[in-house]
Amino acid sequence: MTGAVPTRILVIFGTRPEAIKLFPVIAALKADARFAIRVCVSAQHRGMLDQVLEIAGITPDHDLDLMRPDQSLDALTAALLTGLGRVMDAERPARVMVQGDTATAMAGAIAAYYRKIPVDHLEAGLRSGNIHHPWPEEVNRRIIGTIAALHFAPTATAAGALHRENVDPSRVHVTGNSVIDALHWITARIAAEPALAGGLAGLEARFAGKRIIGVTSHRRENFGGGLEAIAAAIRTIAARRDVAVIFPVHPNPNVRKVMDGALSGLANVAMIEPLDYPHFARLLSIAEIMLTDSGGVQEEAPALGKPVLVLRETTERPEGIAAGTARLVGTDARRIVSEIFKLLDDRMAYEAMARAHNPFGDGQTARRIVEILAHEIGQQA
Ligand code: UD1
Ligand code: UDP
Repeated sequence: MTGAVPTRILVIFGTRPEAIKLFPVIAALKADARFAIRVCVSAQHRGMLDQVLEIAGITPDHDLDLMRPDQSLDALTAALLTGLGRVMDAERPARVMVQGDTATAMAGAIAAYYRKIPVDHLEAGLRSGNIHHPWPEEVNRRIIGTIAALHFAPTATAAGALHRENVDPSRVHVTGNSVIDALHWITARIAAEPALAGGLAGLEARFAGKRIIGVTSHRRENFGGGLEAIAAAIRTIAARRDVAVIFPVHPNPNVRKVMDGALSGLANVAMIEPLDYPHFARLLSIAEIMLTDSGGVQEEAPALGKPVLVLRETTERPEGIAAGTARLVGTDARRIVSEIFKLLDDRMAYEAMARAHNPFGDGQTARRIVEILAHEIGQQA
């Protein structure tokens, strides 16, 4: 046992999806007296991060407030390294926890490594095998994988990728993905308090009787031609009278300028601000199909039995494809349109994809991580 002194863990994150996947783990660790949890946000995202902090009731101990409009990767990474290093020097944690493959996670892992602090990596082992898709995430997560002390792999496939990279198998734990813990939690919150997700009522009334397609898109490798092709596909899809597109648009100016130019003023398209997590969960529940390049949405949509068409050439989440609930459609406008029309017009094709399937977790990921960490600190004591 560790004795009376709780182990100090510094949890570091900066973007919306990291916050969503970390809040159940932070809550579980905070509820356990064996740990003293400190939270540092880089605020690489600002508004979208704050939306999650608010619903999850997290007040960070440190907030670096690093977001700048249209920030470059090098300026962001430089500020992250020095900023996170300073926080580590002040906090002197026993361990650092990061999630996923953002710039914040990668810089957090490096700054901890420079101080010889063990790093625990949540959502470890995702690999596309292509350093340009997704970019720069494939390299970010490989860097974290080289440094991490404990690798919390969401699936056996992800654990297998780490084994192939010669990571010590005793350091790799298949835990499920905490996004499913988060989804269960938010679903229960909305059931208890429907007003939390009531803000789409106006759009739902406007599009009553239409078949809703939910869209998100933000990947850096799709900037320019990829996004233009996605927008062209949406224009064609939304020309159908039986269809409505609800598209919470990522605030990145590279996304906004393309979508504003191509989709403004279309009767069947609602381009809206990023939704907070309860409202996005509502969109997932009312959508017939999700069209997305998001990582998290590829995990959530299958759990809810919603077919998801992935606007990417490769995915590090092959489990949804294998289960038949996700399909890669790339960024070719004709292909996107024909895949959507097939799902809209061929009942059998739709039903084949629409079975609820949950390869990414059972909602118990946070509990497993607490026990693995407790075992780990017990070993060290
Ligand atoms: C980042 C991550 C990506 C993750 C995505 C989730 C990196 C390199 N990229 O990409 O892995 O999938 O978050 O959404 O870490 N902005 C706002 N308000 C916000 C957030 C962003 O205005 O709340 C705008 C800013 O102009 C900002 C830009 O979006 O400069 C880009 O943000 P950034 O975090 O660099 O990259 P994302 O494309 O969001
Ligand atoms: N999400 C949200 N509001 C939105 C769009 C997405 O709350 O308007 C949530 C979604 O439920 C998922 C996560 O954000 O959990 C995905 O984030 P994003 O697509 O930005 O990043 P990625 O998962 O691709 O890294």
